[in-house]
Amino acid sequence: MVPLGPLPRACWTPLISLLLVCCLLPPGAQGEFLLRMVPRNPVVPAGGSLLVNCSTDCPQHELISLETSLLKEEVGTGRGWKAFQLSNVTSDSKIFCSAICNGSQMSDSSDLTVYEFPERVELVPMPPWNPVGKNLTLRCRVAGGAPRTNLSVLLLRGEEVLSQQLAVGEPAEVTTTVLASRNDHGAKFSCRWELDLRSQGLGLFQNSSVPRQLRTFVLPVTPPRLFVPRFLEVGTSQAVTCILDGLFPASEAQVQLALGDQMLNATVVSYGDRLKATATATASAELEGAQEIVCNVTLGGESRKTQENLTIYSFWGPVMNVRGTIRNTSQPTVHQGTTVNVTCAAGARVQVTLDGVPAAAPGQPALLQLNATERDDRRSFFCSAALEVDGVVLHRNRSVQLHVLYGPKIDPAKCPQHLMWKERTIQILQCQAQGNPDPQLQCLHEDSMAQVPIGIPFRVRLNYSGTYYCRAASSQGEHTFIVVMNVQERNPLTVTIIMAVLTILGFVAAILASIYVFGVHKRRDIYHVNQGNHQENAGFPLTSGRPEGSHHLEPPAIGVHAQPLNHTSPAGV
Ligand SMILES: *[C@@H]1O[C@H](CO)[C@@H](O)[C@H](O)[C@H]1NC(C)=O
Ligand SMILES: *[C@@H]1O[C@H](CO)[C@@H](O)[C@H](O)[C@H]1NC(C)=O
Ligand SMILES: *[C@@H]1O[C@H](CO)[C@@H](O)[C@H](O)[C@H]1NC(C)=O
Ligand SMILES: *[C@@H]1O[C@H](CO)[C@@H](O)[C@H](O)[C@H]1NC(C)=O
Ligand SMILES: *[C@@H]1O[C@H](CO)[C@@H](O)[C@H](O)[C@H]1NC(C)=O
Ligand SMILES: *[C@@H]1O[C@H](CO)[C@@H](O)[C@H](O)[C@H]1NC(C)=O
Ligand SMILES: *[C@@H]1O[C@H](CO)[C@@H](O)[C@H](O)[C@H]1NC(C)=O
Ligand SMILES: *[C@@H]1O[C@H](CO)[C@@H](O)[C@H](O)[C@H]1NC(C)=O
Ligand SMILES: *[C@@H]1O[C@H](CO)[C@@H](O)[C@H](O)[C@H]1NC(C)=O
Ligand SMILES: *[C@@H]1O[C@H](CO)[C@@H](O)[C@H](O)[C@H]1NC(C)=O
Ligand SMILES: *[C@@H]1O[C@H](CO)[C@@H](O)[C@H](O)[C@H]1NC(C)=O
Ligand SMILES: *[C@@H]1O[C@H](CO)[C@@H](O)[C@H](O)[C@H]1NC(C)=O
Repeated sequence: MVPLGPLPRACWTPLISLLLVCCLLPPGAQGEFLLRMVPRNPVVPAGGSLLVNCSTDCPQHELISLETSLLKEEVGTGRGWKAFQLSNVTSDSKIFCSAICNGSQMSDSSDLTVYEFPERVELVPMPPWNPVGKNLTLRCRVAGGAPRTNLSVLLLRGEEVLSQQLAVGEPAEVTTTVLASRNDHGAKFSCRWELDLRSQGLGLFQNSSVPRQLRTFVLPVTPPRLFVPRFLEVGTSQAVTCILDGLFPASEAQVQLALGDQMLNATVVSYGDRLKATATATASAELEGAQEIVCNVTLGGESRKTQENLTIYSFWGPVMNVRGTIRNTSQPTVHQGTTVNVTCAAGARVQVTLDGVPAAAPGQPALLQLNATERDDRRSFFCSAALEVDGVVLHRNRSVQLHVLYGPKIDPAKCPQHLMWKERTIQILQCQAQGNPDPQLQCLHEDSMAQVPIGIPFRVRLNYSGTYYCRAASSQGEHTFIVVMNVQERNPLTVTIIMAVLTILGFVAAILASIYVFGVHKRRDIYHVNQGNHQENAGFPLTSGRPEGSHHLEPPAIGVHAQPLNHTSPAGV
């Protein structure tokens, strides 16, 4: 220390002392006595206070003082030392200690560093969605904080450090870019400041910003595929499907399906990168005409849209009507001879064709007039309706069956008038009656009123011969038809006599033969008994028993009508 002459007290201003110490008293230019300041180069929290002790070993020292712009207070003194309390330390500064030793001046200086934690650290908000494959800039702002030489800013993905830089500027802004990937979806980014005062013996201080979550997405440029029916009939519903592949994250995409300006209630499912939305489009009458179905997929603030055309049409009918009926049931029924109008109608623009005859113009009904005859019973009328929708012809058919009521009738072709049968044979009386409703048919013997079964096999007896009245009856009237049945005796008298003679002759011959054979065999002690068993032939092959219709009355004994007839029996014996 180079001793200097004492300075007037009025000159002790910080500026002058600075000038003196810096320019006139270079540090280290000391003699054998020293002036020391404790602590050396202190680091003080902002706004804090500090005790500074200036001491010297000079025996004849005087005027120990501390030069500073800060608030100071002398808090103690002793032999060779003086202590000062500095308060409200808010900024870095240099402090000086000075004293006079044996007439010369000594001094010492120290750098006072203020440290302060940043007030704020914030990661600037990122766009809510970032496309995969695009660079994302992360920006962090740190306000305040000292000393800046020891304050660094780190950008982090989770706990991974992406960038570390010294804080520069106020507020300090630090940026880094990351290439957004699928893995970054949902990743949490944050920013951290670190104040490293370990070299000053104070440790490492740090604090982090509120993390922000990144959402990344992939939305292909191709529009979604939309599957809709081309036509939809009013009152019906059909499924509408919209599919988009290559989406990420598919589960977070929004889908809107709309028919015209009506939103559809879509069910959305995603498998991997595929998104599938299904909804049911219901055609209402007010939507009739050309409509559009739109599928709009939105992800990450972007959307892709597809639209398809859909024609909504109404096609009611054909409705068939039969006028002039007596019953309203599903089976239109008329009396024979009535004039019947069969109509077929369908909606506007629909062309109807009734039994091959088209209506005058589309939208008009087709009419068919007829006089109902028995041939029209169960006649079907066929109506076809055709509607052209958007260049495609749609068909719809309907038919109705007419029922004509007519009186019973026995067709001679289906009911033989003359029958010639042999006694004890099995026969069937084939006879049919027509009519609507189905008539009841019964054949009664003219005299005995006995009934002969119809259509059922029965054994013919001699007394069945005679004239039968076959009567068909229904609510529509009755019709009677005469059937003459001629039953022939099976064995006439001559045939019986010849048969008896032949039988006797045969019997005699058999006895003679037996006697002869018995005689010959007796001598040989060998007997052959030949049993000639002649069974009486029934006269016809009886394959079935008595008719089941035994509820029919058995005709009583009636006279034999042996008149020969030319007719052959209709049923084979
Ligand atoms: C200042 O320093 C001197 C010498 O080192 C010491 O004796 C004294 O106790 C100190 N004063 C305070 C208040 O620390
Ligand atoms: C501390 O210093 C600042 C300016 O440096 C001043 O505004 C503040 O009033 C001071 N506080 C005290 C308690 O003196
Ligand atoms: C103080 O200074 C005087 C002369 O200026 C000198 O003679 C004396 O020895 C000094 N004392 C000490 C202790 O250095
Ligand atoms: C992203 O940024 C890096 C440098 O930060 C650059 O090399 C790269 O080309 C960028 N990529 C895109 C897709 O912008
Ligand atoms: C902190 O700052 C001091 C100087 O003020 C320097 O010597 C030290 O290396 C710094 N530490 C870090 C970690 O930057
Ligand atoms: C860290 O920062 C948060 C706000 O980002 C703040 O609430 C909290 O007090 C800070 N902690 C410290 C030790 O600075
Ligand atoms: C949409 O569909 C869900 C179930 O699939 C049903 O609960 C809801 O009522 C529907 N909403 C409308 C407006 O149809
Ligand atoms: C698709 O849907 C989104 C969100 O619902 C909407 O903002 C956007 O306008 C729609 N885009 C089209 C083309 O309709
Ligand atoms: C839908 O119909 C409009 C005219 O009505 C036509 O211009 C358009 O090409 C049609 N779209 C499709 C997908 O057929
Ligand atoms: C049948 O149609 C003709 C002409 O269309 C009409 O004069 C007649 O009254 C109709 N008959 C019935 C029973 O509806
Ligand atoms: C047939 O139906 C009409 C109305 O559908 C009714 O007025 C009429 O009385 C019905 N006729 C018969 C015979 O049931
Ligand atoms: C129905 O019969 C009447 C007379 O019986 C006749 O004038 C009319 O032309 C007949 N109609 C048809 C369609 O045969």
